[in-house]
Amino acid sequence: MTLWTVKSTEKRVNGVAAISEIGSMRGPYATLRGRLCGYGVSARSKYHVKPRLLTTDGYRLFFLDLELETPEKTDEQEDMSVDEAQPPRDKALIQPAIFRYPELSVEALSLYYHSIRKGDIVTVAGFLELETWRRGSATETQADPLKEHMTSRSFLFHGLRAEVVRSWNRSEDGEFKSVPGVRTKPKTMDDDSQEWKGHIIRNEEDAMKLRDQMCKYWLHYGKCPKGNHCKYFHIENAQLLNICRQRWIEARLEARQLTSHDSADPHPPLSKTSRHHRASIFAHYLVKAFGVENLNQGTGVLDIAGGKGDVSMELCKEYKVNCTLVEPREDVWLVGLGRKKRKGRSKREPDDAMNTRSSMASESVTDDGESPVIRVPAQIYPCENQKNEATVDHINSVLPPASQGPRPLHFSTHDSVGHLLASRLRTCSVMIGLHPDQATDAILDHALINNKSFAIVPCCVFKREIQREWIVDGIRKEVSTYQDLIQYLCAKTLSVPHRHVKLEWLDFQGRNCVLLSEATSS
Ligand SMILES: C[S@@+](CC[C@H](N)C(=O)[O-])C[C@H]1O[C@@H](n2cnc3c(N)ncnc32)[C@H](O)[C@@H]1O
Repeated sequence: MTLWTVKSTEKRVNGVAAISEIGSMRGPYATLRGRLCGYGVSARSKYHVKPRLLTTDGYRLFFLDLELETPEKTDEQEDMSVDEAQPPRDKALIQPAIFRYPELSVEALSLYYHSIRKGDIVTVAGFLELETWRRGSATETQADPLKEHMTSRSFLFHGLRAEVVRSWNRSEDGEFKSVPGVRTKPKTMDDDSQEWKGHIIRNEEDAMKLRDQMCKYWLHYGKCPKGNHCKYFHIENAQLLNICRQRWIEARLEARQLTSHDSADPHPPLSKTSRHHRASIFAHYLVKAFGVENLNQGTGVLDIAGGKGDVSMELCKEYKVNCTLVEPREDVWLVGLGRKKRKGRSKREPDDAMNTRSSMASESVTDDGESPVIRVPAQIYPCENQKNEATVDHINSVLPPASQGPRPLHFSTHDSVGHLLASRLRTCSVMIGLHPDQATDAILDHALINNKSFAIVPCCVFKREIQREWIVDGIRKEVSTYQDLIQYLCAKTLSVPHRHVKLEWLDFQGRNCVLLSEATSS
C-alpha cells in the first residue's frame, strides 16, 4: 500500500510534485497525497459551527491538513501496515489544502467536508497559490531568522478534487491522534527556542511579509493573552502596529471583495464605490430605470425595509419622487437627521431632533384616531434654493409575508396600519428593497400579487429562518447561498405569466445585484 507518497517527480516544492504552471494567479498544478490530520475553518469564530460553514456567504471555505511524507517510500515500507509505515509524528510534513467557493461548487464543498474524516488517506488535486509558492521556493539567504521562516513555510495549496484512498478504520486502527496544533504551527518552530517565542516585528517590510502570521489579538488590542507563548507575531511599536492593523483590515476587505465578486458583475471588484453610497446609487438607478414620472405614479415608491430611509430621502430630495417607507425601526429619519447633524449640516442639538419630529412631522390620523403614518418633512434633507414638494411617509411597521393566498392583501379594517399598508400596496408605483433582510420574499410576493414593478437588491439568505425550495430541471433545490437566493427569486418571478426579470449590478461594494421586474400591462 502506498502511503504519504507524492505523485510525479517533474518538479518538487516541499516534496509535492508540480505538474504545470498556468495563468498569473494560479501557480503550478499538483497532486498531494497524505493523511488527513486536522480541519481548519474560516477565521471568524461565529462561523465555526459545522453546518453553517458551507452556507454562509463569503465564508464558504475550509482547510484539510494533510500529513505528507517527504522521502519516497521504499518497496519494503510500501508493504508495511499503517502504523509501521507512519513516520514519526513530530517530523510529519503538514500541508494545508484550502477548499473554497467559487473554486468548488457548494455541493462539492459540502461533499468533501462531510465525507473525509481524520486519519483517512486522501489524494487532493489542485494548484499552488503563486505568491505563496514563490515565497516558499527558497532562493534567498538563510541567515535572517525571519527569512528562514518564510522560505521554510509551506505554500498555500487550493484543492479542486479530493478522493479518499483509504478510510481510517477505528475498530482496526484505533482512535486517530492528530498532531497537536498542526495547522497554525510553522514547521521550523522549535517550541523551546527563544528566537521564535514572542518574536517581535521591527519594521514595516517584515510586517508586510509576515502579514498572514500576525497575532490578531495583538493587532486589535495591542496585547495577547498568550504572551510569549503565542505562535503568531507581535508588534511592539505603536506606530507600526497602527500601520499593520490598517493594512490587515484593508487586506481582509480586499479578500472579501474578491471572494464575493460575481463573475457576471461588470464592475471591477477592487474599484467599486463605498457601500456607504449605496442609497444614492440605488436611487439614481431607479430614476434611470423607471423615470421620475413613472416613479411618481399613484402614491409613489414603496420603500420596504429601508432602514434609516436613505433611499426614500434621496429620491424625495434629489428627484422629487414621493415615497412611503415601510420600516419597523422607530428612529428612522431621526437617525438620518442625527447623522447629518454630526457632519455639521444641521445646527440643531440632539434633543432638538426629537422635538423636531413632533413639531415638524404631520401625522395622518385615521378614522379610529390612530396615526399609522408619519409624514417626514422634506426640510430634514433641505434642497438648496428649492422648495421640495415631494414627501416621504413612514409607516412604522413590518411588511408581513404574503402568505394569504394569491389575492391582493386585505388587512383587517380595525388594523389601521395594516389598512394603510394594504392601500399603499395597491396604489404605489414601484416596490423597492435595498438589502431588505427578511422582507425580501414579502416584497417580491406582494409585488407579484399586486402586479407592481419591483427593484430588489437582496443581501442575506437567512437560511435558518426562511426555508425556500425551488425546482431546477425537475430537481428540488434548497436555497442555501446568495446565488441560490437570486436564482430562486428569478424563478418565482418568471413563474408568473408575462413577467420578466432583469439582473443588473450596481457600482458599490457588498451585495449589489438588483432584480428588476416591470408590472405586466394587463
Ligand atoms: C440591513 S437593513 C437595510 C436597511 C437599508 N435598506 C439599507 O440598505 O441601509 C434591513 C432592514 O430591514 C428591516 N426589516 C426586516 N424585515 C422587515 C419587514 N418584514 N418589513 C419591513 N422592514 C423589515 C429591518 O428593520 C432593517 O432596518
